[in-house]
Amino acid sequence: MDFKNIISHCKEYGFIFQSSEIYDGLSAVYDYGPNGVELKNNIKNYWWKSMVQMHQNIVGLDAAIFMHPKTWKASGHVDAFNDPLIDNKDSKKRYRADVLIEDYIAKIEAKNDKDVQKAKKRFDDFDEAMFRSTNGRILERQKKMDEIAGRLAKAMSSGDLGDIKAQIEELEIACPVSGSKNWTDVRQFNLMFSTQLGNIAGEEDKLYLRPETAQGIFVNFLNVQKSTRQKLPFGIAQIGKAFRNEIVARQFIFRMREFEQMEMQFFVQPGSEMKWYEYWKETRMKWHQSLGTPIDKLRFHDHDNLAHYANAAVDIQFQFPFGFKELEGIHSRTDFDLTQHQELSGRKLQYFDPELNENYVPYVVETSIGCDRMFLAMLSNGLQEETVPDADGKESTRTVLKLHPQLAPSKCAVLPLLKNKEELTKAARDVYDSLKLSFNCQYDEKDAIGRRYRRQDAVGTPYCVTIDFETLEDNCVTIRDRDTLSQERVKIEDLKSLLFKKIEG
Ligand code: GAP
Repeated sequence: MDFKNIISHCKEYGFIFQSSEIYDGLSAVYDYGPNGVELKNNIKNYWWKSMVQMHQNIVGLDAAIFMHPKTWKASGHVDAFNDPLIDNKDSKKRYRADVLIEDYIAKIEAKNDKDVQKAKKRFDDFDEAMFRSTNGRILERQKKMDEIAGRLAKAMSSGDLGDIKAQIEELEIACPVSGSKNWTDVRQFNLMFSTQLGNIAGEEDKLYLRPETAQGIFVNFLNVQKSTRQKLPFGIAQIGKAFRNEIVARQFIFRMREFEQMEMQFFVQPGSEMKWYEYWKETRMKWHQSLGTPIDKLRFHDHDNLAHYANAAVDIQFQFPFGFKELEGIHSRTDFDLTQHQELSGRKLQYFDPELNENYVPYVVETSIGCDRMFLAMLSNGLQEETVPDADGKESTRTVLKLHPQLAPSKCAVLPLLKNKEELTKAARDVYDSLKLSFNCQYDEKDAIGRRYRRQDAVGTPYCVTIDFETLEDNCVTIRDRDTLSQERVKIEDLKSLLFKKIEG
């Protein structure tokens, strides 16, 4: 489904609303509606279960959003958490200079993809890898993309703002709004939001809204290690809000100014970090697949431009409706953060290794995924228009949200066949009452049964349980499967355990 339809579906079915919409909205800030909050909570629970509950050596934390201002000096965010911005003098619109260049690269990539699609249609035994590695036009474009990306990465890591501007001019990139190439110089822009503690003014007491949850974990490293008596390697996981004053605020919940992260810092012996980096790369990729995301919609993308704290970094990219983009980052953060905090706080943040009989600052491998991006990935992957047979044998189209049952906002809907037959509605309410403590369920008696099925399909409910006149005779109900549309007759007494099996997989 295209991106515009996904956004309107989110509003129509209570997944996501623009923040403060009655005041014309607040840019890049969103509210989650009744179905949205359920899906988001399910994503968080699934992550927490697989990261914390399934690993004896990973424990949880919920640190405050506000932290001592020195935290952000130590982490490098005050000095280096910048994006290069550029203004177009005619439209007065502001852009991230690196994103303008990346978008230019994406347009070239789209041309290659188009050629591949065309060739695919022409040949039955089409070998995409072979085509990409031998076709002259594709190779020429790839070379150009690599050159542009390489030069951008170099300029970004050396902070050469002049060269970023030169690249924009040489590539003749125009403002998408005014169409003009009349650009200002490129400047650095710090992404942290700041506020003031109490009534004290001045730089010293400037507080920041955390731009990542990770630092709450680093400053608590020893508290957690000592209170849980964990031995290396071990991890600390946290889910929480993060804030960034993004310059490019677009693509819906993909890039927000207030968002939520699910992060885990894994503390390891120095020298073993690459082994663990590979381990977490594979483990996290499998996690995405366990939720039914097809492998061809996921890929690894090594960072060309390493963050100030990392010695290796890779993104797990997902194919969003606007192309492959970062969904999750896996970073080998070395001992950078703990060493920095040790220096600025004057407190030792070392681990005594009983095997080596020595103290050291551990190295860290981080997995970091945006909850909102995961939400968007699940919606983009699951939302489909389909032609399906109707009850009367004809065909009709339906909008269906094929979410993994564990993520679905409601696990099942209980539907009496008719609304105005009290014996049916009473039996249906009894079934609903017997399930509601175990699963998030819905009871719906309005409209014809076909329309109710469609409503549940659109919000991703995997199972509909229908109570009909036979139910009153045989104590059986019909379970309809959202994806296959198959119907199964089961005893009411077996319903809960059967649903449990289907949902928990
Ligand atoms: N602690 C490491 C860190 O924060 P990051 O790559 O800047 O690394 C991690 O962010 C993840 O957080 C990203 O992969 C993305 O899913 C999510 N994220 C980052 N900025 C975001 C934004 N403005 N809106 C929504 N999600 C964002």
